[in-house]
Amino acid sequence: MYQIVSKMFTAKEIENRVKELGEQITRDYEGDDVLLVGILKGASVFVADLMRQIKADANIDFMSVSSYGTSTVSSGSVKILKDLDYDIKDKNVLIVEDIIDSGNTLKNLKDTLSTRHPKSLKLCTLLDKPQRRTCDVKVDYVGFIIEDKFIVGYGIDYADKYRNLPYIAIVEDV
Ligand code: IMP
Ligand code: MG
Repeated sequence: MYQIVSKMFTAKEIENRVKELGEQITRDYEGDDVLLVGILKGASVFVADLMRQIKADANIDFMSVSSYGTSTVSSGSVKILKDLDYDIKDKNVLIVEDIIDSGNTLKNLKDTLSTRHPKSLKLCTLLDKPQRRTCDVKVDYVGFIIEDKFIVGYGIDYADKYRNLPYIAIVEDV
């Protein structure tokens, strides 16, 4: 049975790091606009906080793609369940994801969105598990690099639970 075993990042640590990411993104897009594309549902909390730390001209849209279902093992395929409302042609697009694991989700998504000819296309993830990467995908902004643990909280779930935790915690089969 999966249970929370320990805390990985406190709400304050997340807040500080999100602020730094916002400042970095603000500098990079200065004088330009950026469309943040939050990946539902996991990145919803992160993108809402990140957006408020960006002082450039920012807008928000959401996509829903299927990857894991209720399992903790990647399926390797990605399907668009909800597409963007906006046409991204000639727009600066920043995909905002909760966590990169194998990289399959973002690799597929990036390939799909680049066929729509955005002006630029970058990736931002709150958490990155580089040890688990099975495909080559460039990530432009990373909140925290973490070890290969299954984590929950701050929007991120296990079997649709724990998204409302204000901190990030490790769950294990105990
Ligand atoms: P990838 O395609 O293997 O990179 O998987 C990325 C997606 O898997 C993320 O958007 C998460 O939804 C999910 N995921 C990966 N690792 C975790 C984790 O530790 N906890 C919860 N979800 C995870
Ligand atoms: Mg996700």
